[in-house]
Amino acid sequence: MLAEVAKFCDWLSLTPISMLFQTVEWIIPAVQSVHILAIAIVMSSVIMVDLRLMGLMGHSQSISGMTRRFIPWVWWSLVVLLLTGLILITAEPRRDLLNPVFQAKMVLLVVAIVVTAVFQEIVRRNMEFWDLSPSRRAGALATAVLSLLVWTAIVGCGRWIAYVEHG
Ligand code: HEM
Repeated sequence: MLAEVAKFCDWLSLTPISMLFQTVEWIIPAVQSVHILAIAIVMSSVIMVDLRLMGLMGHSQSISGMTRRFIPWVWWSLVVLLLTGLILITAEPRRDLLNPVFQAKMVLLVVAIVVTAVFQEIVRRNMEFWDLSPSRRAGALATAVLSLLVWTAIVGCGRWIAYVEHG
């Protein structure tokens, strides 16, 4: 399997589009900057909703209101992150696809997407869900802590990729 991925990386890095990204100096820094701006939007939106869920801010606003306001920003920024991430991978496939930290980042991303989507769906079905009982308020706190930990770990992995040996 690893050998197949390595073969794919070698093929990809010799394609004209990869060569273009490798040789035009401004493309990768520009794409990295857009990736970082999108991370800022994802993290600010997640933090706003999670702090509200934890009861630490925004008491004048409902959890469902905060969710409707901020979670769409997470989904649209993820589209930007996916597109810019694919360009970064195309430029240096081995650096990312064969890197265990990149693989961990992708697994964590799936977890973060599932947690966020399930949370959004619960709020969509029942706006008062999290406020109805003390056990649900404890659930809200646990969800917010999990969400913050997973999204922060994704940021850490993203940065860490550059410092880990790859195939
Ligand atoms: C949607 C799918 C995503 C893909 C395919 C992707 C892919 C990548 C790639 C290929 C890199 C370059 C790593 C390197 O070679 O050093 C990178 C960097 C990074 N990514 Fe992502 N990423 C995605 C989503 C995210 C998300 C959701 C976050 C955090 C919320 C994130 C945070 C980072 C960070 C912090 C860096 C380092 C930026 C830098 O130091 O220049 N990424 N990403």
